[in-house]
Amino acid sequence: MKVALAYSGGLDTSVAIRLLQEKYNADVITVSVDVGQDPKELKKIGEKAKKLGVIKHVHIDARGEFVEEYVFRSIKANGLYEGYPLSTALARYPIASKLVEVARREGAEAVAHGCTGKGNDQFRFDTTIAIKAPKLKIIAPIRELNLDRKWEIKYAREQGIPVPVNVGRPYSIDENLWGRSIEGGVLEDPSKAPPEDIYAWTRSPAKAPAKPHVVEIVFEKGVPVSIDGKRMSGPELVTRLNRLAGEHGVGRIELMEDRIMGLKARENYEAPAATVLIQAHRALEQLVLTKQELIFKGTVDQTWADLVYSGLWFNPLREDLDAFIERTQRRVTGKVKVELHRGSSRVIARSSPYSLYDKELVSFDRFGFDQRDAASIIKFHALQDRILSRRRRG
Ligand code: ARG
Repeated sequence: MKVALAYSGGLDTSVAIRLLQEKYNADVITVSVDVGQDPKELKKIGEKAKKLGVIKHVHIDARGEFVEEYVFRSIKANGLYEGYPLSTALARYPIASKLVEVARREGAEAVAHGCTGKGNDQFRFDTTIAIKAPKLKIIAPIRELNLDRKWEIKYAREQGIPVPVNVGRPYSIDENLWGRSIEGGVLEDPSKAPPEDIYAWTRSPAKAPAKPHVVEIVFEKGVPVSIDGKRMSGPELVTRLNRLAGEHGVGRIELMEDRIMGLKARENYEAPAATVLIQAHRALEQLVLTKQELIFKGTVDQTWADLVYSGLWFNPLREDLDAFIERTQRRVTGKVKVELHRGSSRVIARSSPYSLYDKELVSFDRFGFDQRDAASIIKFHALQDRILSRRRRG
């Protein structure tokens, strides 16, 4: 049996190769999808797979597609789940989609992934595969064989599988251009602060430059197109901003996350560019959208993020919401300045040709309109409240 496995080079998927060969009698084709993870790790991945005896390794560069189809939509939707910029969730859909494509091309009977039965990623993988290829069998060895991380580390040692983790640093890391997630080990105790060694993209705020840096971001129709006056492609812009904001210690997130199955999990993320871009995008929306649009879009954004988090990317509601969001973005064009300083990012200036701000009208220093007109509007403002209080007085 030929099986296409989504391969990241990490512990779960490396162990999965051997389990598929041993316990499922499979010929394994590994598929690695570049969504912006560490290029040094990616370079080694094909060789690593071959050492583990796979019959073929397929590498797909999906960075452009990931940014344009998923990350940009998420910026337009201010994609936050419980306050963290959706990152792992977003990347699972293109990864699973590419996996299916390779399986078809290679004539595989099944696809496999390294998800455990406790997390969210199994929902995203399984739903995407079932929707794109209902006949393809799904094998999830870690989940099916009910394995835990300690067992996996021991098995890897016995099998001579090189793994980047050890019992002292047993983190499970997921990485893409939009964010980095770190779980496991001491992080599972929410009463303890995360150790400094979990971070790879952000400098400790204590060690970040004392001098603040102001970055200027230009958006066109809701999408960032340039930083500090330089126009660049989506992947390049995000990569650069990750480096810049990371230098200033921006984008560390720690939270108690409510997983799809109801488990609470202690999560840690690094997402410097995502933090800054979503903040800047919101600031621009505040300038150009009406109050009513902002309120309504807030609930739309929330629902959008919930669907994407929960494995429901292919739900038609997500597409319906995207159509609404897309329409609102026609006026989300302009410039935002964000100050990066020792772990914090702060919007300090914004402008747009579609601005609804009218200085003449709001200013303390000008007339603009006749203030006396306000008094007659206020007479009717709390009309029902006034009637009610009169009734109560009898
Ligand atoms: N809990 C996060 C999410 O579902 C990310 C989990 C990433 N996996 C990992 N092994 N760190 O979006």
